[in-house]
Amino acid sequence: MKTYLVTGGAGFIGSNFILYMLEKYPDIRIVNVDKLTYAGNLENLRDAEQNPNYIFKQADICDKEAMEALFAAYDFDYVINFAAESHVDRSISDPEIFVRTNVLGTVNLLNCAKKAWQTGDDQYKPGCKYLQVSTDEVYGSLGAEGYFTETTPLDPHSPYSSSKASADLFVKAYADTYKFPVNITRCSNNYGPYQFPEKLIPLMINNALGHKELPVYGDGMQVRDWLYVEDHCKAIDMVARDGRPGEVYNIGGHNERPNLTIVKTILAYIREHVDGEVGEQLIKHVTDRKGHDRRYGIDPEKIKNELGWYPETTFEVGIEKTIRWYLNHKEWMEHVTSGQYQAYYEKMYSGR
Ligand code: NAD
Ligand code: DAU
Repeated sequence: MKTYLVTGGAGFIGSNFILYMLEKYPDIRIVNVDKLTYAGNLENLRDAEQNPNYIFKQADICDKEAMEALFAAYDFDYVINFAAESHVDRSISDPEIFVRTNVLGTVNLLNCAKKAWQTGDDQYKPGCKYLQVSTDEVYGSLGAEGYFTETTPLDPHSPYSSSKASADLFVKAYADTYKFPVNITRCSNNYGPYQFPEKLIPLMINNALGHKELPVYGDGMQVRDWLYVEDHCKAIDMVARDGRPGEVYNIGGHNERPNLTIVKTILAYIREHVDGEVGEQLIKHVTDRKGHDRRYGIDPEKIKNELGWYPETTFEVGIEKTIRWYLNHKEWMEHVTSGQYQAYYEKMYSGR
């Protein structure tokens, strides 16, 4: 039985990954380590709780003693590091926690995994793998043409993407220096169930359903390359199992859309299927994000050619599934938008 250490498994992508893996493989064990920040939510994992192959531990990936104890308690085969501060806007107002979790936390995990897996000089437990879940934002911003490939130079702009790029460089350093078996995956924007409503799609769905203003940054013509979260989970599973050690894999679905189009798509769906009073009058253009990257676009040829990965969910199907999920999980949304979220929203959007 293979044992996975999944960090940040109570967040959006991590929880989707755990649910996907437990359903797909009855013969694996997953230990989920999460600090449970504002973004971590154990409600996401209700369907895993009864599974004897799933274990949850609340801990900080920066905590050396806690991580060492975990590696002593379990004989891991894989580490999948999702844990991060993940929101660009928060990184602009408070960069330090991004350095701590995203950079120092990653180095701490690398050290603990290396210590646990080392069998000799540059030799490690057979089949073990450390996978760093990274982002296309490390490549910076594109003009109207071209795509990010795995060899595009790193050119991060926000404190968030700089912290993720720094972490990637440490992961690469462990591969180069110690021959440590790693992969880095760099994915485009995800959407789907359990995404915290500080991110574009769930925020717009929630506001539209509540007849609240939809705050579009600047002209709304910034382009993101959207991928349904389950397709990302499938890619991570494939890279962990079959990716060549030391390699980077870009993950994206050639699904680029301007933000304003995304917002209008959500509005149109809700107007037609849920509430006829919801319309484009709710859109409000607000002050742009500082240093806002204009366009992201992934070239996924490498993962397609080497591992046979492709996105299964079209945007039309994915966005409908996503809106339906939020409609069917109103309690989940109420829980995550009570308390702290109100203060966050006020700070981020009032008078903007
Ligand atoms: P998220 O913010 O929803 O979840 C992050 C999780 O990490 C939360 O459960 C949080 O409690 C946990 N966490 C934070 N700090 C921690 C710490 N110090 N120790 C342990 N746990 C901690 O993030 P997400 O959107 O699910 O993103 C997951 C990963 O994927 C991140 O590394 C992010 O950079 C990357 N990524 C995200 C996207 C996207 O579109 N959301 C795209 C590409 C890559
Ligand atoms: O590209 C991958 C990245 O995608 C991940 O690494 C990040 O963790 C994830 O948060 C996401 O980053 P973005 O900044 O692209 O996502 P966000 O949902 O915050 O914003 C998407 C776009 O929508 C961006 O151009 C900013 C814009 N936006 C966002 C919000 C929250 C708005 O116009 N209004 C908003 O209220």
